[in-house]
Amino acid sequence: MCGIVGYIGSQNSQEILLEGLKKLEYRGYDSAGIAVFTSQGLEISKAKGRIANLEAQLNDAPLRGSAGIGHTRWATHGRPSDVNSHPHTDDTQKFSVVHNGIIENYIALKEELIAAGHVFVSETDTEVISHLIADLYDGDIVVAVQKAVKRLTGAFALGVLTEFEPDKLVAVRLASPLIIGVGEGENFIGSDIPAILEYTRDVYILQDGEMAILTREGVELRTLEGNYISRELFHVDWDIVTAEKAGYAHFMLKEIHEQPKAYRDTMGSRIDAAGGKIIFNELKLTPEQIHKIDRVHIVACGTAYHAGLIGKNAIERLARIPVEIDVASEYRYRSPIITPQTLVIVVSQSGETADTLAALREAKRCGATVLAITNVVGSTVAREADDCIITWAGPEIAVASTKAYSSQLIAFYLFSLYLAQVKKTQSSEYITEVITALRALPEQVETILGQFEQIKNFAEEISTHSDLFFIGRGMDYAVAQEGSLKLKEISYIHSEAYAAGELKHGTLALIEEGVPVIALATQEDLFEKTVSNIKEVKARGANVLGISAEDEHEMIKSVDQHFAIPKTLGLLTPALSVIPLQLLAYYASLALGNDVDKPRNLAKSVTVE
Ligand code: F6R
Repeated sequence: MCGIVGYIGSQNSQEILLEGLKKLEYRGYDSAGIAVFTSQGLEISKAKGRIANLEAQLNDAPLRGSAGIGHTRWATHGRPSDVNSHPHTDDTQKFSVVHNGIIENYIALKEELIAAGHVFVSETDTEVISHLIADLYDGDIVVAVQKAVKRLTGAFALGVLTEFEPDKLVAVRLASPLIIGVGEGENFIGSDIPAILEYTRDVYILQDGEMAILTREGVELRTLEGNYISRELFHVDWDIVTAEKAGYAHFMLKEIHEQPKAYRDTMGSRIDAAGGKIIFNELKLTPEQIHKIDRVHIVACGTAYHAGLIGKNAIERLARIPVEIDVASEYRYRSPIITPQTLVIVVSQSGETADTLAALREAKRCGATVLAITNVVGSTVAREADDCIITWAGPEIAVASTKAYSSQLIAFYLFSLYLAQVKKTQSSEYITEVITALRALPEQVETILGQFEQIKNFAEEISTHSDLFFIGRGMDYAVAQEGSLKLKEISYIHSEAYAAGELKHGTLALIEEGVPVIALATQEDLFEKTVSNIKEVKARGANVLGISAEDEHEMIKSVDQHFAIPKTLGLLTPALSVIPLQLLAYYASLALGNDVDKPRNLAKSVTVE
């Protein structure tokens, strides 16, 4: 993620850049900075933490000038810190760059530039861009940028300034979003429309491989080869709130729809090009250490705990290592048996949850190796764990977690496969089969999202009820628990998740005419048993929504309504079956008129025990 903005005009740029960054804070918020042409030259102010920190710094030491660029960061290469914040510059401090994306070949470029005498100060990939442009500059910033981007591989949206040409702002896009705002006597760049919507509604949407040269007088669009592009302006007629949510009514809905991308990004370069091998370059855990692991503990809270339930299943099935799982607030107090051969996996979207952090510290104190699965680079959990797998879901704003949960599942699948690969507990043919199925998931999620109407109707139906049940066996039971939590937290409807076979031991007494039951039956080996349990609740009058693969005719006949999910391996079905449950919670909450994104009594990051 990361968000970039830029301004060139006649107004004081500092305020415009800060306001733009605030609108982009959803794209990342672990540091922010701006560069402005002041009477002293190109000056930079940047600060770790939220944009409010940068704002406070600028209140004390303003940067006055009518052209500048700004950045809000979601750390990828290099922890969140002042020095790793953007804008970045070169040795001469005459060039300044903001960047959203990842430069894959930055190490090779950095070595080359160091050999040529450049001195680097940060751990980021972005810093190579400012040095590279400075190195290639020969009196024309547009040419220098064109030459520089030809040497970059990866994804980028860039804003570039040089003190040598203070009347120009250069922007480039390749696989990261960038728009150009066109005003009167002033022009803008932004990662997203909300960043500039306060100032202009006329924009160019830059395409991959295009650049824009902004002056106060106008905007010129060119290809990276230098050919001029003529394009119609796009007039934005949405309001600002809609724009921030990219047209979705709520952040939660937007984040539900971002899951295909979150899956792809989390898999990213962790699968080799041939699709036959898992690569975890970021892990310090060595194969020798992996061979010594004799038990795994998974510790997490809430939704992350539910992801851990799937993780337990995947690790045990694929890597044949015994796994215990605990909610973090209980872990320390049960005096868990931890040895140096124990791998403790803590799962936390925010990386700041106090209970999870306390469990992590306890595990380390007892000598375990701790691996974190988190969505936030540089978070406390990421820093304190011995090892870290980042889920690339991007910032999650809605309190009810969706894309962070499902990308935790992907992280668990990848890690379990990696363990299996190292320990040789599965054949390479089977590992390839699972990887192939994993890669198909994003498209399958898209198919499910396209069928939202059916879930919406059922959600409206159940929204008048005060109690309902989710049932399933095995991994379906784990997904049922997540579905139930999601529904409770945003619709405030009481629900319970039950292992389908356990109903008859007590809870069946609560089933009466019309009680909604959501039944998951996606696991082939448990299918018939689950269908029997569905028949038990049907016989007592339950109104059942069944979720299973499309060709399960026995299931379709047994339920009142059926939602079909595309076929995948049983192990991977949670990554699909959770999607209708997220939609169910969302639409039930909507039908009840609740504040979907900010449910009562809850907070996004729970930093108290
Ligand atoms: C529910 C939800 C919470 C979090 C829990 C842990 O939708 O989001 O249950 O999963 O508070 O938070 P993290 O993952 O940040 O440690």
